[in-house]
Amino acid sequence: MFLTLHLFFYFYFLTNSSSPLPHTSSAEEIFGSIVVYILISILSIFIPGDIIYAWGKNKYNVYLLNKTVKKGTRPKIDVSDDEFVPRPLVVDRLKKILQPNKNHSCYHVVCGEHETGKTTLIRNASREVGQGVIYVEIPADAEDIEDFGIAFGKSLNFAFEERISFMSQLMKKVLGDTNGKDERPKWKRALEAFKCASAVYKAKHNKPSVIIYDNISKLVNMNPKVLDTLQDDAKMNADHREYIAIFVSSEGSVPRRMESRSSWSRAKKPIMEIGDLDRKTSMEYLVKKRNIKEEDAEKLHDLVGGRIVELKTVADDFLAGQTFEVIKQSILDEVEKKFQSAQLLPNDPYYEVGRSLISDLLKFNELSFLVFKKYFDKVEEFNEVLGSNIFSYHPEKNIVTFQSRSVESYIRENANIFNKSPSFFIIEVD
Ligand SMILES: Nc1ncnc2c1ncn2[C@@H]1O[C@H](COP(=O)(O)OP(=O)(O)OP(=O)(O)O)[C@@H](O)[C@H]1O
Ligand SMILES: [Mg+2]
Repeated sequence: MFLTLHLFFYFYFLTNSSSPLPHTSSAEEIFGSIVVYILISILSIFIPGDIIYAWGKNKYNVYLLNKTVKKGTRPKIDVSDDEFVPRPLVVDRLKKILQPNKNHSCYHVVCGEHETGKTTLIRNASREVGQGVIYVEIPADAEDIEDFGIAFGKSLNFAFEERISFMSQLMKKVLGDTNGKDERPKWKRALEAFKCASAVYKAKHNKPSVIIYDNISKLVNMNPKVLDTLQDDAKMNADHREYIAIFVSSEGSVPRRMESRSSWSRAKKPIMEIGDLDRKTSMEYLVKKRNIKEEDAEKLHDLVGGRIVELKTVADDFLAGQTFEVIKQSILDEVEKKFQSAQLLPNDPYYEVGRSLISDLLKFNELSFLVFKKYFDKVEEFNEVLGSNIFSYHPEKNIVTFQSRSVESYIRENANIFNKSPSFFIIEVD
């Protein structure tokens, strides 16, 4: 069309000597013709170029998206090789989940206490599997749901801005069309884009792709409705074998929220839980990786147990020259702050109920969820105490335990505060 227009004007000005503009000299006529000719030439190159560029750019974005799902996000691990503790049993279990077959029809929830190493392990497993695994981490510093959308788009290599040619924009403006801009939140658009790329992946590889949402506790605090939508979508897409979702959470309250919804029917049970390192692995870490003498390593392990992040901290402090006593005091001080904010210290509102719970937990090591609940008259109080960092709910076994070995160490060290003294004494009389 533009070529015809171009040729038409070219021949028109070549053959037509009469001026299109009245009262002009022949020099002005020639100048005018040249200007119009140049303008038309520029337009006839610019317009198709603009359209082709926008089309090409959009095609390239789709190509990038499909390529990312095919290759997988392959997230980095922040722990250096010399400090990394391999946990082959957990990684193998995760890798199985990350490689669903074509008939896989449920989504997964992985949980564990704060800083047990969930992110490191799931990143490790998804890096090893690679193909078809998209890893999205809700940023710890996310301020609103838009930040989640941005992180989602980044993991997918998804360009949110569809390239619209200049001509289309102009036409829309002239015609007053306001439907052009996609006003949906970014996370929704990223999810749609992922689903499109998943369909391409499935058609090519005959198996569903996988999406991991790590740190969903943060999402619940920002906007629980978004998690509900992701859960419903995960259920529907597991039903249709389109994609498999994995939700990773640090707080027991999140799986409990997910469990209460109808789309829980398609979640794989029992929930997978990532816990602390066992004694042998913890000792290997301290003795072999950190070169700490066995007897010192034992004392450190007895203090903080197998919580990897705490083991690392006490090892760092010990190697920096701090004495065991100083390290112990600083760990116990930190735990005391947790007791304080949980209001479980003497004269606090939950002191008495906490004391009964603590004494039973010391006896039995764990309490069933129902038994734990029975200590409370009000559900808000139950939620508050369970949500504090003193106790921990384990959905895999439906039990409650102390949150960590450090908490237990604090209780043992302060037995005089927490021991339940008998409410009466038997006085022997001769
Ligand atoms: N396998 C490991 N080997 C060595 N260090 C580890 C390992 N896993 C975790 N860590 C250390 O523990 C820290 C916390 O780990 P990570 O972030 O994976 O835990 P998390 O369970 O995801 O924590 P959160 O509950 O806050 O999300 C890491 O920064 C790293 O220093
Ligand atoms: Mg994490």
